[in-house]
Amino acid sequence: MPLAEAASLVSMIHAVGLTKRFGNLTAVEELSLDVHEGEVFGFLGPNGAGKTTTVRMLTSLISRSSGTAEVAGCTLGRDADELELRRRIGLLPENVGLYESTSAVQNLEYFGRLHRLPEAKLRANIERLLRMMDLWNERDRPIATYSKGMKQKVAIARALVHDPVLLFLDEPTANLDPESAKTVRDFILELKKERRTIFLNTHHLDEAERICDRVGILRTRLLTVGSPEALRDRLWGSRTVVRVERPSEALVVAITDRLGPRKVEISGDTMVVEVTDPDRDNPEIAAAVVGAGGRLRQISQLSPSLEEVYLRLIHEQGSAG
Ligand SMILES: Nc1ncnc2c1ncn2[C@@H]1O[C@H](COP(=O)(O)OP(=O)(O)OP(=O)(O)O)[C@@H](O)[C@H]1O
Ligand SMILES: [Mg+2]
Repeated sequence: MPLAEAASLVSMIHAVGLTKRFGNLTAVEELSLDVHEGEVFGFLGPNGAGKTTTVRMLTSLISRSSGTAEVAGCTLGRDADELELRRRIGLLPENVGLYESTSAVQNLEYFGRLHRLPEAKLRANIERLLRMMDLWNERDRPIATYSKGMKQKVAIARALVHDPVLLFLDEPTANLDPESAKTVRDFILELKKERRTIFLNTHHLDEAERICDRVGILRTRLLTVGSPEALRDRLWGSRTVVRVERPSEALVVAITDRLGPRKVEISGDTMVVEVTDPDRDNPEIAAAVVGAGGRLRQISQLSPSLEEVYLRLIHEQGSAG
């Protein structure tokens, strides 16, 4: 097996049956999940789904009610692994806590020294991170004078100052303007190139779609996991839009005769055909239309967005439960 392929199988997070109860409330139930080295994993789910609780368990900030997890090679709950876990992971928490009366540089120095980073490495990391976040010129101002988004960026820098191999980001772009959000997304992709692993809680489905290798959808229980493309295909399939000069029932029959029974909707000059494998089905659709005397104007693919998939899944689960 090539080295790169073997490396891609390394599990950075291996959780089995992870559960958290707060009194009578079960916040996370029986979560089993693997996140691989070098992967950007997106964790989606409605407010109160248990995303932050999961991150807090995986970063050992709160205890588990039951279940086990290996995180960056450390076993949760094993005292001997606690310190090593802190070194290997970085966390951008949901509620950013910085020392407000001191500057960005002082905040980062403080956290870097906690992790015993060599002084020269620490200086280099601080400058690189603050420049990247466009905060270098503001570096000596007290954090209290920063805007919400500027604080968020310092907190992201803080999560990274000790070069962690696994980074947990709880809604990193929530407070950011579009340009800063893009900076952070690009930054995440840069980290991925360095084979760091990123666990990302987000409500931005387009963000998840753009940067995540796989996403999991949580609603106390894990509803599904897969690449955004796989989720779209698995949950919905795809549809082919056929524009013809004059749609007719005869054309619909020609298509279903050829492809087998399936849903075809006529709307204006288009027919929308449900397909399972567009590469196989589309040529057949074109042949059926032309064979039945139809004049084909255009044939194109309509794939649901991750947002559509998400809403449908959450909605279905909501009405089922
Ligand atoms: N310390 C706590 N004590 C009691 N209940 C809690 C505590 N922390 C979280 N919960 C509950 O656990 C559930 C999951 O909360 P959590 O913060 O993990 O959700 P989330 O998916 O991160 O939501 P959001 O998208 O709003 O950030 C919620 O019902 C919440 O009220
Ligand atoms: Mg949360």
